[in-house]
Amino acid sequence: MNSLSRLAIVVSLASVFPLSALAADSKGSVEVVHWWTSGGEKAAVDVLKAQVEKDGFTWKDGAVAGGGGSTAMTVLKSRAMAGNPPGVAQIKGPDIQEWGSTGLLSTEALKQVAVDEKWDSLLVKKVSDTVKYDGEYVAVPVNIHRVNWLWINPEVFKKAGIEKAPTTLEEFYAAGDKLKAKGFIALAHGGQPWQDSTVFEDVVLSVMGADGYKKAFVDLDESTLTGEQMVKAFTELKKVATYMDPNRAGRDWNIAAADVINGKAGMQMMGDWAKSEWTAAGKVAGKDYQCVAFPGTEKAFTYNIDSLAVFELKNKDDMAAQQDLAKVALGTDFQKVFSMNKGSIPVRTDMLAEMDKLGFDACAQTAAKDFLADDKTGGLQPSMAHNMATTLAVQGAIFDVVTNYINNPQADPQKAASQLAKAISSAK
Ligand code: BGC
Repeated sequence: MNSLSRLAIVVSLASVFPLSALAADSKGSVEVVHWWTSGGEKAAVDVLKAQVEKDGFTWKDGAVAGGGGSTAMTVLKSRAMAGNPPGVAQIKGPDIQEWGSTGLLSTEALKQVAVDEKWDSLLVKKVSDTVKYDGEYVAVPVNIHRVNWLWINPEVFKKAGIEKAPTTLEEFYAAGDKLKAKGFIALAHGGQPWQDSTVFEDVVLSVMGADGYKKAFVDLDESTLTGEQMVKAFTELKKVATYMDPNRAGRDWNIAAADVINGKAGMQMMGDWAKSEWTAAGKVAGKDYQCVAFPGTEKAFTYNIDSLAVFELKNKDDMAAQQDLAKVALGTDFQKVFSMNKGSIPVRTDMLAEMDKLGFDACAQTAAKDFLADDKTGGLQPSMAHNMATTLAVQGAIFDVVTNYINNPQADPQKAASQLAKAISSAK
């Protein structure tokens, strides 16, 4: 069964168990389901909470731990099924369309806010299209994350005798060998499916370029999925995995980030929410740590846009709380402070154009410059591992193949490519 039909079942069940009206607080309340629970992420979401509360509304925190959000999505689906969805939930990419088609998202709540705040002119079309359903905003985008980053501890590199950040896969492996030889973890990593696939998509991008990446993960083109280049990507993935922390099983991404921050490991492949941990630890970009595009992906930008979707509510006060949250979320003050804490960049194009003036650090300035440039060249591609490129069903099929592959040193790259194509085709 595809995810659309699964969501359709959610809707029919939701009509059997009608929405339970939440007791209204004086000025309305908003429950927000999200998965921002690491130290850095919490610092970021607390900014939104504080502003909504300052505006007189009650914030009900619906945090569900688990990086990448798959646990949060499971919780959200079961709540929707029980007829008790929250007012707002972190939902991203094509999934927004699926939720939109269930009729549970509100196409009314954000109408006026979007007009008053001129959202259409503030956002690039790729972004506004993602958060609209049937031509109406059903979610507010809060930031842009870049996924294809490599995080480096320069002190550790120095101790291992590595002179510069790698720019090719060969240099990456050479750096990894030197780190291992000095007893460091070369590549900090958490062995969870979404983290494995974050690494996989970087490697695919490096080997196949933005065009090949798009054919594989956006178009789901069978000949690309089974082609020679994909086999090469799996071959490189196997090599990359030899540099991963051997004790990675089940490790959370922020614990892996801490290994690099604390000088136990040299590198981590992770989106720039990893920067939130460096920031929370008081470290400075360009000085205490380096952010570079994963080798071979300098001309590409895999984007991951966090957005908060609004559910249909009956209570007018609670709707007012949703509207307040949405207005705050795209306001300039919030966009700046949130992204500085979160490691992302603002989603407002007017802000992307003046990142240095706004006081953003070197990593964020590079991200903004690359986002705008790569939008013009085709280098800007949606992240598969972060729900931006495909449905959750297809993503889940990819996750399974990739994680099994990484954990089996005997696995054959050729077979993995054909398993990938098969798994995707049955999940479509
Ligand atoms: C989300 C980020 C989050 C990260 C780790 C990504 O999918 O977009 O906001 O920080 O997962 O949980």
